[in-house]
Amino acid sequence: MSTTSVEKHVSKAGFLKSRRSRVLLALVLFIIICAAVIPPVVVTELRKKNDMGPKSKVIVPLYVYPAPGAWAPLEKEIAAHPDVNFTVVINPGSGPGPNALPDANYTREIPVLRSYENVRLLGYVHTSYAQRNISLVRRDIETYAAWPDVSSNKLAVRGIFVDETPQRYSGSAFDYLQNLTDLAKSLDGFGPDPFVVHNPGTVPDSRYMATADSTVVVEAAYDTFLERNGTRQLTEIPSSNRTQRAALIHSVPDSVAGSKLRGLVKQVRGVADEVFITHLSEDYYANFGDRWSEFVDLMDD
Ligand SMILES: *[C@@H]1O[C@H](CO)[C@@H](O)[C@H](O)[C@H]1NC(C)=O
Ligand SMILES: *[C@@H]1O[C@H](CO)[C@@H](O)[C@H](O)[C@H]1NC(C)=O
Ligand SMILES: *[C@@H]1O[C@H](CO)[C@@H](O)[C@H](O)[C@H]1NC(C)=O
Ligand SMILES: *[C@@H]1O[C@H](CO)[C@@H](O)[C@H](O)[C@H]1NC(C)=O
Ligand SMILES: *[C@@H]1O[C@H](CO)[C@@H](O)[C@H](O)[C@H]1NC(C)=O
Ligand SMILES: *[C@@H]1O[C@H](CO)[C@@H](O)[C@H](O)[C@H]1NC(C)=O
Repeated sequence: MSTTSVEKHVSKAGFLKSRRSRVLLALVLFIIICAAVIPPVVVTELRKKNDMGPKSKVIVPLYVYPAPGAWAPLEKEIAAHPDVNFTVVINPGSGPGPNALPDANYTREIPVLRSYENVRLLGYVHTSYAQRNISLVRRDIETYAAWPDVSSNKLAVRGIFVDETPQRYSGSAFDYLQNLTDLAKSLDGFGPDPFVVHNPGTVPDSRYMATADSTVVVEAAYDTFLERNGTRQLTEIPSSNRTQRAALIHSVPDSVAGSKLRGLVKQVRGVADEVFITHLSEDYYANFGDRWSEFVDLMDD
């Protein structure tokens, strides 16, 4: 009886001892885990953010015909990345097309894109380097601006993407572009803050910059971009001007993946506030490449 009691006592003491050491062990483990795991996570998060520089918007020249499902890869990324803003250029027929509204595939899909808060739609027009009859360009712009009225508010864009704008300065081209911008800014159909993008495809005469909200300063294959990366025009951009610049880079080699793609996205984000990068080397605005989703992920970091 007494033996049993002693044994019980000893085993109880042992139990207490082992419980205390277990608590101690757990505490030590907890501290080790905190020291080992949490700081790297925090550091990685901070490094990720700092590493990638300023956040830019994804700009998509969406020259994809909206056959059922064709815009799904875009809608998927828009929905998956609410913290990424998308500027999407709608182009029914080298402009709004000949009719007051584009066909039923467009009138079905445009409202879907419009329903996302992180999407700004722009209507495509082209100027043939300020040589196209300006009345026709103005008519295209007015057609887009009339979409809300004609479609009972189902269709609308929030500005225009002016393709083929000149690089070299001339007074008449300047007046031509300013005329189009003034028109876009004056029309109610684009909402409260009409946005105008110019696409000379390269760094234009700086006097043109003020005639648009944003300018595509590079539209080029990856190799061409790398060659130009060394030039003063691209690298010596005052950081205050980054928000007025867009970049479209195609024909990125398959070998530029993982950390290399990350490096490229970071580099382009450094020079442009609106960015599109694709590995496709043909019909690159008419399809989504294999690494489309990876590109958008990197724009979210
Ligand atoms: C919509 O797209 C499909 C697939 O390309 C096509 O067959 C159909 O005719 C289009 N509808 C309209 C109204 O154009
Ligand atoms: C995205 O758009 C929202 C709403 O217009 C704006 O507040 C935010 O600053 C934008 N973010 C980026 C990274 O452009
Ligand atoms: C430009 O287009 C308008 C409208 O179609 C037409 O009246 C005008 O004659 C054209 N101007 C030139 C120079 O072709
Ligand atoms: C813009 O262009 C149109 C068409 O040529 C012309 O009628 C109008 O006067 C121009 N506006 C300005 C402010 O130059
Ligand atoms: C920077 O932006 C300012 C204001 O729009 C403009 O006057 C200047 O020419 C721009 N500089 C370059 C290098 O684009
Ligand atoms: C591009 O230019 C930047 C700034 O000069 C430089 O840091 C970077 O290494 C260059 N990248 C390539 C791939 O040449």
